[in-house]
Amino acid sequence: MEAPKEIFLKDYKMPEYYFDKVDLNFSLGEEKTFVSSKIVVYPRIEGVSSPLVLDGHDLKLVTIKVNGEELKKEDYNLDSRHLTLSSPPSGTFTLEIVTEIYPQKNTSLEGLYKSSGNFCTQCEAEGFRKITFYQDRPDIMAKYSVRIEADKSLYPVLLSNGNLIEQGELEGGKHYVLWEDPFKKPCYLFALVAGQLESRDDKFVTRSGREVALRIWTPAQDLPKTVHAMYSLKAAMKWDEDVFGLEYDLDLFNIVAVPDFNMGAMENKSLNIFNSKLVLASPETASDADYAAILGVIGHEYFHNWTGNRVTCRDWFQLSLKEGLTVFRDQEFSSDMGSRPVKRIDDVSRLRNYQFPQDAGPMAHPVRPHSYIKMDNFYTVTVYEKGAEVVRMYKTLLGSQGFRKGMDLYFKRHDGQAVTCEEFFAAMRDANEANFHNFLLWYSQAGTPSVKVTSSFNAEAKTYSLKFSQEVPPTPGQQVKEPMFIPVAVGLLDSNGNDIPLTSLYHDGMLESISASGQPVHTVVLQVKKKEEEFVFSNISERPIPSILRGYSAPIRLESDLTDSDLLFLLAHDSDEFNRWEAGQVLARKIMLNLVADFQQSKPLILDAKFVDGIKSMLCDPSLDKEFIAKAITLPGAGEIMDMMEVADPDAVHAVRSFIRKHLASELKAEFLSTVESNRSTEPYVFNHNNMSRRALKNTALAYLASLDDPEITSLALHEYKSATNMTEQFAAMAAIAQNPGKARDDVLADFYSKWENDYLVVNKWFALQAFSDIPGNVENVKKLLNHPAFDMHNPNKVYSLIGGFCGSPVNFHAKDGSGYRFLGEIVVQLDKINPQVASRMVSAFSRWRRYDATRQAAAKEQLEMIMAANGLSENVFEIASKSLA
Ligand code: PHE
Ligand code: ZN
Repeated sequence: MEAPKEIFLKDYKMPEYYFDKVDLNFSLGEEKTFVSSKIVVYPRIEGVSSPLVLDGHDLKLVTIKVNGEELKKEDYNLDSRHLTLSSPPSGTFTLEIVTEIYPQKNTSLEGLYKSSGNFCTQCEAEGFRKITFYQDRPDIMAKYSVRIEADKSLYPVLLSNGNLIEQGELEGGKHYVLWEDPFKKPCYLFALVAGQLESRDDKFVTRSGREVALRIWTPAQDLPKTVHAMYSLKAAMKWDEDVFGLEYDLDLFNIVAVPDFNMGAMENKSLNIFNSKLVLASPETASDADYAAILGVIGHEYFHNWTGNRVTCRDWFQLSLKEGLTVFRDQEFSSDMGSRPVKRIDDVSRLRNYQFPQDAGPMAHPVRPHSYIKMDNFYTVTVYEKGAEVVRMYKTLLGSQGFRKGMDLYFKRHDGQAVTCEEFFAAMRDANEANFHNFLLWYSQAGTPSVKVTSSFNAEAKTYSLKFSQEVPPTPGQQVKEPMFIPVAVGLLDSNGNDIPLTSLYHDGMLESISASGQPVHTVVLQVKKKEEEFVFSNISERPIPSILRGYSAPIRLESDLTDSDLLFLLAHDSDEFNRWEAGQVLARKIMLNLVADFQQSKPLILDAKFVDGIKSMLCDPSLDKEFIAKAITLPGAGEIMDMMEVADPDAVHAVRSFIRKHLASELKAEFLSTVESNRSTEPYVFNHNNMSRRALKNTALAYLASLDDPEITSLALHEYKSATNMTEQFAAMAAIAQNPGKARDDVLADFYSKWENDYLVVNKWFALQAFSDIPGNVENVKKLLNHPAFDMHNPNKVYSLIGGFCGSPVNFHAKDGSGYRFLGEIVVQLDKINPQVASRMVSAFSRWRRYDATRQAAAKEQLEMIMAANGLSENVFEIASKSLA
């Protein structure tokens, strides 16, 4: 195989030609689909004629014309990836191309493909080249009109971007539509949908009075499950007006739900296409987590209309320009719609469990990567979630109003343009006349900065000092790092647990006033810029307990000299709810790491009674938010702990985590039981914070209890399972029972399947629960499930549930006999032939193989090498596998 080509940011060149107007014509058929395009092309520099290189992949070229004249073979060159016109006419010309494609055979789910009999498209990042020959890059922005013709009975609904201009009947039972999008767009935002769909219709009146028709399209039988999606859409539209002053800009907004989709959803202009699991929900079939994810993702895609579509990316290296910013926006939206501290806790946990490991492994890359082989591989937690943290830091540094000023300037300067991360940075800086020092390093340096802080109190001088030192670890291709600009939000607690008013601090030999307006300040954002730096608070009359990195003000690993009793104090008193939770987590991580060491040395495991008391007091504190309690009594994930170890030991971490859970369950059995009882409800399901909190706490308590594997608890869980009126409680009860192997487990799993076998989204939950299970030898069960009639390797959601779920299980995926690795290796090779993007996501489970012991390393390496040697390996899998081995 020809070695795949790596593409570098530093090689970016402006295009030689731009496209002005694009007319597309689709003739959709069962055997073949014809795509005709007519493009108005003009050179970047008047009078300069250079070759025009068009991207194209898996296309059959039918005809090509320039200014109406068909080209002869010698006028162009066609290879497997490009169509090159060596000397196009100088000046503006029209290019007409007809291609033939076979969407019904397209299993990659990229370009034009079929899902459950309907046609749909996915063009981001580089899928448009599978539809027609084009300059498939986001800095080519054009106005599109799209004509679609198809059989009317098979495809009664024909959708594309923008406004519907015309429709009519054709001979032979066909019909056609014409859509026109008045906004210029890059081709990755193009979309087409054709099929048997019905819509839930609603409307939204924008604050300037535009009436927008809202339509959510699904197969008829799913329409009742779109109520929450519609609610979410309207809430998002309102929120963007209220918070950012951003209004929708067309008269129609469509969402289409499809069952076969590689990712979550896609922000195509006025025609968002969604993975159906992020649209469809009813209380009986979707959990609270599903409802929350739908709210967040509907918001996310809608928000892209401004951050992504109106202002887009110059090139794919800038992906975080739209994704980091839009994730930040959806996080803020969800916070405002629910509980801000709980949302922050969830987002930070996600960062720690997924992004930190990526940033410390062979696929580590900056928020703005320097190179890629397949862009698909860079839709990562680093670009998305760390990117969102970078945007959040602007807000932390500038305040809400300053941040808004920066956003306003960004849109004022760049509406209708394709820009870079520097332009966003410059808008934030210029709107606030801010000095951002070397903040841009957050875009270019990979790796999670480690920050150590030590404190000292001087009673005589009444000063309290915090000394910071920072270190950014080496990552592939970046051995030496510069110190970063890190905003650290700090508060100080007095001995009663109240915030001490902060007045001034010494820094760099200067006394700086903190409270400019004379108002007491309880949290100050320290700007840590150097490798080592000290900040000294003045007027501090007693030794305070510091609350550092409030609200998680920067995506770093923090190490402090806080003692266990300081942490317990913060856990009880910090006014910053995030840090209150964090104090408990720091303590739990310490305890877990110590117990892991004990386990490895075959010492008996003993849990500190103070920790049990801490958990107990939270569980029984009626003043605390219930969802907060549920988070606070949940132990850090196994991944998070393994990530902190020199050599990751999945068995030890699993044993310790199970030991602590069981110990807490037996010590606090009465409290957990009464928590379950007092949090039952017979009221109908409502998606709001109060109700979700109640369910979250009850389910957490039940899960603890079930770890005891006690028949009394099993019957309690079975009672909860049978009496549940919503999926959140029904599923949690089943999961509780399924923790322990045996007849109760087998029965409840069988019962659940027979209840829900006709609902593919619920069946996926059932797959995931079994796949992720840590019951011994589970790989055999997962292999059996591959042959289950409901499983299908062509459907990404099913693969993510069953294969992805299995790879998330520390004990079975990492089984020392290598059985888990062998299983994944075989699957990756099979899957790569069907869908390279999905295969590539699965192979990523191997990427941190060097973190484990020699036996596991050898077993994983063998699989990676086997994959590398496979015939016809995709570039997607090649990139991850080869970088993992490098
Ligand atoms: N741009 C999509 C989003 O909102 C993600 C996506 C990328 C979807 C590539 C499909 C393909 O985040
Ligand atoms: Zn996005």
